[in-house]
Amino acid sequence: MLKIILSIVVLGAIIGAGVGGVHLYKVAQRNAEEMAPFEGKDVVARRLPGRTLIVYYSLSGHTKDIAERIQKMTGGELYEVKTAEKIKQTPWFYLTLRKQLKDKNYPKLSGSLPDFRQYDTIFVGGPVWWYTASTPMRAFLQQADFKGKKVVPFTTQGSNVGTYFEDFAQMAKNAKLLKSASFNNMPEKYDHAVDNKIATWINSL
Ligand SMILES: Cc1cc2nc3c(=O)[nH]c(=O)nc-3n(C[C@H](O)[C@H](O)[C@H](O)COP(=O)(O)O)c2cc1C
Repeated sequence: MLKIILSIVVLGAIIGAGVGGVHLYKVAQRNAEEMAPFEGKDVVARRLPGRTLIVYYSLSGHTKDIAERIQKMTGGELYEVKTAEKIKQTPWFYLTLRKQLKDKNYPKLSGSLPDFRQYDTIFVGGPVWWYTASTPMRAFLQQADFKGKKVVPFTTQGSNVGTYFEDFAQMAKNAKLLKSASFNNMPEKYDHAVDNKIATWINSL
């Protein structure tokens, strides 16, 4: 009996590793195809008119990295959305966050919101959680009123953006939405291409 159970466990692990490997391979291939047009050249971002704000929420640093690159290229100001209590990355936190999303149980944020009236263009970025916007981004959007300003949404994700932008559009009150962009987590070798992708996107706004 023990032998049968062991065999099932080993077989399950082999199948799991195989499926995971194929998924990672496909993501790597898609990333290579997506970034190919941005390799090599050096795209310079144009300065956007007026003042620019870059709002971001980031749990593990990927969105922060993209937000900081946008900040460097636009000369804008950064505003980090922070939760009042730190989100604990327990072994089961993925499931906890999924339940919180399902229950619309969003965290309290710390600090006050920026005065959006001071800005002409507002980038707003966050990670994709369970194919949609994260709970802290949702908490931010519940509080924010963009008062007719130009809002440029962006995301970072492993590989699947899901319905993030549709959900964002529904939640962003009084935003005049401009072209969005999403950034898969990429290995360092694509650093320059990612910069070019950001600059190309900024130039298209
Ligand atoms: C709870 C949770 C759910 C996630 N769900 C998705 C998803 O649906 N699709 C995806 O491509 N990546 C998903 N990811 C990966 C993150 O979107 C990705 O790592 C993102 O760049 C993290 O941004 P940050 O480092 O700014 O927090 C998820 C991550 C977490 C923590």
